[in-house]
Amino acid sequence: MKNDMTTSNHQKLLAWVEEIKSLCQPSSVHWCDGSQQEYDALCDLMVRNGTFTKLNENLRPGCYLARSHPSDVARVEDRTYICSRNQEDAGPTNNWADPDAMKQKLTGLFRGCMQGRTLYVIPFAMGPLESPLCKIGIELTDSPYVVANMRIMTRMGRQVLDKLGTDGQFIACLHSIGAPLQPGQKDVPWPCEPDVSRKHIVHFPEDFSIWSYGSGYGGNALLGKKCLALRIASMVARKEGWLAEHMLVLCLTSPAGKKYYVAAAFPSACGKTNLAMMQPSLPGWTLRCLGDDIAWIRVGKDGRLYAMNPETGFFGVAPGTSVKSNPNAVRSIAQNTIFTNVVLTPEGDVWWEEMGTPPPARGIDWQGQEWTPECGRKGAHPNSRFTAPAAQCPVIDPDWQNPDGVPLSAILFGGRRPSTIPLVYEAFHWEHGVFLGSATGSETTAAAIHAAGVLRRDPFAMLPFCGYHMGDYLGHWLSFARRTDRAKLPKVFFVNWFRKSADGRWLWPGFGENSRVLKWICERIEGTGKAVQTPIGLLPTPDAIDTSGLKISQADLDELLKVDIEGWTQEALDVSENYKKFGDRLPAALENELRDLKDRLVAAATPK
Ligand code: OXD
Ligand code: MN
Repeated sequence: MKNDMTTSNHQKLLAWVEEIKSLCQPSSVHWCDGSQQEYDALCDLMVRNGTFTKLNENLRPGCYLARSHPSDVARVEDRTYICSRNQEDAGPTNNWADPDAMKQKLTGLFRGCMQGRTLYVIPFAMGPLESPLCKIGIELTDSPYVVANMRIMTRMGRQVLDKLGTDGQFIACLHSIGAPLQPGQKDVPWPCEPDVSRKHIVHFPEDFSIWSYGSGYGGNALLGKKCLALRIASMVARKEGWLAEHMLVLCLTSPAGKKYYVAAAFPSACGKTNLAMMQPSLPGWTLRCLGDDIAWIRVGKDGRLYAMNPETGFFGVAPGTSVKSNPNAVRSIAQNTIFTNVVLTPEGDVWWEEMGTPPPARGIDWQGQEWTPECGRKGAHPNSRFTAPAAQCPVIDPDWQNPDGVPLSAILFGGRRPSTIPLVYEAFHWEHGVFLGSATGSETTAAAIHAAGVLRRDPFAMLPFCGYHMGDYLGHWLSFARRTDRAKLPKVFFVNWFRKSADGRWLWPGFGENSRVLKWICERIEGTGKAVQTPIGLLPTPDAIDTSGLKISQADLDELLKVDIEGWTQEALDVSENYKKFGDRLPAALENELRDLKDRLVAAATPK
């Protein structure tokens, strides 16, 4: 396969490709056309060089398995930078370096880094090409794994170059795995820079460019996703008056046939994909999926907020994905899917922990070693992934590619919170809703390289993805009450599926049963749902959640819907502590919300 000729006459693009070619010294250049033929040829190439194992065509047609280097399994937040001119503008939640010094350092790293490899030019679009929010990127990479994944996750290929024309704007995304090949040197299945301290994921706000070096892992290397559609897009969105968010988008239809579009922000690996395509347990309700990770939101002509998913695929966490937790994901990944770091079974299929099927008696684990269920090691990496086309989701919404997006009725925040936070509660008003988003926190997961299972504040689930000062970001969210008629803004809720009892039991069954919570949310939107005013927000009355047909004790339900004043007093203190980081860029409206919460908690704790 060879395509070293471009159909582009875009002088700036051609000049940039030439510049990177002479810096990185690849042995050839391939302009990607995005065709099936090209994808198949790249997959064949990766099977030949050992990166891909073709799965059994009868069991998983069109599917491949890749195993990464053990150093390259997750996002590297410590190695991720926002290089704004002024350090202040990157804010306290981002790593910062001087842009000139960083460009110099990266130029050194990229010099000769593609020797012996092909430089692929990937033209891609985030969002439907005809959408007013569509952004075009060009990723230059030396990884065929990245090309194959980008074809699933983005609109990629010739049509994008056509749209770009001779002078259209594009976001320059440079990526290298950082593993040049010397003449005669044998390649390895997952080439990358194994020294984590040399990996760099860098964003330059001045020219909106991205430089990513040393990693082939999705979140670090598929530059349309976290780097462009969240970090860079959040900066652009602030300038242009819209929002780029770490949110799923779904459509719920009631038995009466009314549609409710909902966006939800949960931190990484907290069940966005599960909720995005959930099968409601409540009869008569249907759910359709529009996206599972990213939403671009803007004020529509009618003053409502419209959400659009800029991606075209799911890059989901495999472990825990089962017929019980997410039957529609299981069906979405039945074919044409790339699996990374899961178990290979003797039949040539894949397996992972909590897949809901018995483990194979033996298999090959994510590190390529012989594995048995008794060996004491996990077979799949906890952050192992599937990359699958969104169009394969059996409940994909007919409007998922609508260039205008869909009008939101509700925004949800949530995280893994084993104690204190109730199953669901509603914000009093927009500013209180922004306060709830700002106080989002979760037990950490394996999606990034850090200690798992500790509580970390993750405002709007954007801590690793907000490309500018988080205080300014919170102000930007507040500004929507001025950008449109408040009455047209979605209602805001906080949900927590992860409450545990004192003896460590899950209090709520989750998954399809979460439709019961969504039903109450829809009733609140309609003005019929029953709620009680509490110090933390509006909670369902004891009988407001539909539990028909569900086995749950009254004691567990009471616990799920209780306001633990002592726990919340602690929670408010922890939020105050986190707010200190934002200094004088913390919007006054949020300070007021926090003060009012504390006052309400004190009043509730004081005997009358
Ligand atoms: C993801 C993440 O992969 O948030 O979506 O890490
Ligand atoms: Mn994510």
